[in-house]
Amino acid sequence: MMAVNCTLQILLLLLFILLSPVAITAGATDTFGKGQNVTDGETLVSAGGTFTLGFFSPGASAKRYLGIWFSVSSDAVCWVANRDHPLKDTSGVLLVASDTGDLLLLDGSGEVAWSSNSPNTSSVEAQLLESGNLVVHDQRSKTILWQSFDHPSNTLLPGMKMGKNLWTGDEWYLTSWRSPDDPSPGSYRRVLEYATRLPEVVLWQQDAKAYRTGPWNGRWFNGVPEASTYAHDFPLDVTASKSEITYGYTARPGAPLTRVVVTDAGVVRRLVWDASSLAWKTFFQGPRDVCDAYGKCGAFGLCDASAASSAFCGCLQGFNPASPPAWYMRETSGGCRRNVPLNCGGNETATDGFVLVRGVKLPDTQNASVDMSISTEECRDRCFANCSCLAYASAEIREGGGGSGCIIWTGDLVDLRYVDRGQDLYLRLAGPEIGMKTMTVNLIFQYISSLALGDSFKG
Ligand SMILES: *[C@@H]1O[C@H](CO)[C@@H](O)[C@H](O)[C@H]1NC(C)=O
Ligand SMILES: *[C@@H]1O[C@H](CO)[C@@H](O)[C@H](O)[C@H]1NC(C)=O
Ligand SMILES: *[C@@H]1O[C@H](CO)[C@@H](O)[C@H](O)[C@H]1NC(C)=O
Ligand SMILES: *[C@@H]1O[C@H](CO)[C@@H](O)[C@H](O)[C@H]1NC(C)=O
Ligand SMILES: *[C@@H]1O[C@H](CO)[C@@H](O)[C@H](O)[C@H]1NC(C)=O
Repeated sequence: MMAVNCTLQILLLLLFILLSPVAITAGATDTFGKGQNVTDGETLVSAGGTFTLGFFSPGASAKRYLGIWFSVSSDAVCWVANRDHPLKDTSGVLLVASDTGDLLLLDGSGEVAWSSNSPNTSSVEAQLLESGNLVVHDQRSKTILWQSFDHPSNTLLPGMKMGKNLWTGDEWYLTSWRSPDDPSPGSYRRVLEYATRLPEVVLWQQDAKAYRTGPWNGRWFNGVPEASTYAHDFPLDVTASKSEITYGYTARPGAPLTRVVVTDAGVVRRLVWDASSLAWKTFFQGPRDVCDAYGKCGAFGLCDASAASSAFCGCLQGFNPASPPAWYMRETSGGCRRNVPLNCGGNETATDGFVLVRGVKLPDTQNASVDMSISTEECRDRCFANCSCLAYASAEIREGGGGSGCIIWTGDLVDLRYVDRGQDLYLRLAGPEIGMKTMTVNLIFQYISSLALGDSFKG
């Protein structure tokens, strides 16, 4: 009885394998090993058909690159092997080196244009997984020796990570293409910053910050509240442990295709494939407006994207433009200066207090100190007791309001803006400034306008 049952099951299994198109293509086209190769014009297709690996020419370029793209959208290239070493013609070939087991991209003359530098192992094969990850693994143990997800280009796919493995020292970040015709590394890098162990994602243009998401608040990056609208399909995954500090995301089964890409122009986009219109839809784009330009309003400035009348920049309560003429000329990056010095000595005449700045993308946390283990009330006490503390905020927000943890700023507050569903920042001010309203900036604008331009200003 047992044996009959078993045989039946095996038969059914065989039938299933024979009839299933997925199983057949899986064996046939997503994998290759020693003695096999992929030449220009041939492709490797992942088991479910989502991703294709092959040779392509980007944009108007005639040069050839080896890459991985979405099968439904061949210009959506998400990984490029030979970014810096294009091939001149279609004589390239991808193969597994018979001696080292490296994945090698050779040009027509047999020169190596790119190599995976995977550990020397005799029995390896390469496989394009349904996630878009190209892996080199040991044929017997299936141990992964190398994977393209560890070497991101300009695209973050579900299952990839940005950040750092603290044990191996491996770091993952995205780099833009140089132009739509040239996948070599361009001037933008998207990096997970983790010095405070409170991660935030920063877009760098060479050595300058161009745009930051704001710190992780336990649910989304503080300056990207949009994420809460697609977190159901694409849950964000931030880990800060002893072994890694990383950010990535996954895709719920059945969710549409998605990718996060850093364009050559320095724009970060989350794109989602709309299968009915056969087009990528933008779910998030950053920087999204003038206030996302890093440090737009300088130190202690506060950007308001809806305030065209004050050219978007204002100063925090208790501060005024460091240079009013420069502010009038929309040179706001010089920031704001404190009106009344803090009076922090801890004696009974000390009158410092805190004012609440509501609904903001928190200032750059690069030089902040973070303590996840204390409450926001303890944070206030800690800030009040320390004369170098200029502001504090909760590090984590909770369902239904409130927060926990503690971020303390002791230096300039840079890159503050109003944002939907933003966080509360508590700003230290001298007693006389508390309770005063921030009318001063607009008054200065009106004053300078009338002085400098009289009636000649026609907009
Ligand atoms: C690629 O594989 C084909 C067919 O197996 C073979 O004829 C050709 O010589 C191989 N090319 C290289 C460069 O190994
Ligand atoms: C790779 O390993 C093989 C067998 O262990 C050895 O013969 C070969 O020299 C090694 N190659 C390199 C480049 O280390
Ligand atoms: C208390 O603080 C005030 C204002 O900073 C200062 O003038 C005064 O000397 C301080 N008194 C003592 C006893 O430290
Ligand atoms: C953090 O400190 C460094 C070194 O003093 C400084 O160069 C940098 O501008 C500071 N960052 C912020 C956001 O204030
Ligand atoms: C004040 O806070 C700063 C930053 O957190 C810290 O480096 C410094 O030691 C603190 N000072 C005192 C007296 O606690």
